[in-house]
Amino acid sequence: MAKVFAIANQKGGVGKTTTCINLAASLVATRRRVLLIDLDPQGNATMGSGVDKHNLEHSVLDVLTGQCDLIEAMQFSEHGGYQLLPSNRDVTAAEVEMLEMDKRESRLRQALAPIRENYDYVLIDCPPSLSMLTINGLVASDGVIIPMQCEYFALEGLTDLIGSIQRIGQSLNPGLKIEGLLRTMFDPRINLANDVAGQLKAHFGDTLYETVIPRNVRLAEAPSHGMPALAYDKSSTGANAYLALAGELVRRQRKAAKAIA
Ligand SMILES: Nc1ncnc2c1ncn2[C@@H]1O[C@H](COP(=O)(O)OP(=O)(O)OP(=O)(O)O)[C@@H](O)[C@H]1O
Ligand SMILES: [Mg+2]
Repeated sequence: MAKVFAIANQKGGVGKTTTCINLAASLVATRRRVLLIDLDPQGNATMGSGVDKHNLEHSVLDVLTGQCDLIEAMQFSEHGGYQLLPSNRDVTAAEVEMLEMDKRESRLRQALAPIRENYDYVLIDCPPSLSMLTINGLVASDGVIIPMQCEYFALEGLTDLIGSIQRIGQSLNPGLKIEGLLRTMFDPRINLANDVAGQLKAHFGDTLYETVIPRNVRLAEAPSHGMPALAYDKSSTGANAYLALAGELVRRQRKAAKAIA
């Protein structure tokens, strides 16, 4: 049964999409079955997976509005090795359509239910907002992975995000937890980055991933080729950081499963 993780932060440009694509490909490299869901009308995860967002027969819009099954809308990312539920700007219409629908917050959760057992991990790339789309992502998930840059304002936004996650947890998805906080685009030469990293560790303890994603130009270049860094330049520090993250995530899962057993 798949573990479902939303990659979310209402702050823009913190590395959500980069994390989705590269973590998905890294989990595939460790022989996990992965589905990536692009919930962002920007369609960045779609393009970065090598699927043309301008030419979609079906998208996550059709799934959320009940016009097709998830399986019908899925496409395979050739370089990533995972399945993708694509998105494009039309998906903004889903937000409006869903407002009139029954159980509008759990449309994605319902759509995922019949296929969860076909995957080990489902990763959901959320848009930079706390919109109905993001709420659908959070309601469908077991946990939230929060990518963040180690800068001063990042901490401020984090409080809002954690508050929202807790509210959704209480009202719509009691199982929802914060799976992990991920430091992205890290540059150890910047003092503030080290200070913020230290504060995060003090405040969040083990929730903070030990793996740190460095700023690496290969991670920025790869999506324009429709590839994860692992396919674009597998020796890059970016590709290796995401492989390490996949390893850490899988170890955490194993530990959590043992604790329950
Ligand atoms: N570790 C990294 N090193 C260098 N560049 C990076 C790294 N991570 C992300 N980037 C670049 O930073 C920009 C923002 O990253 P990304 O698109 O992943 O953020 P996002 O949180 O998904 O943004 P949005 O909020 O718009 O959806 C992109 O141009 C991406 O290529
Ligand atoms: Mg994004």
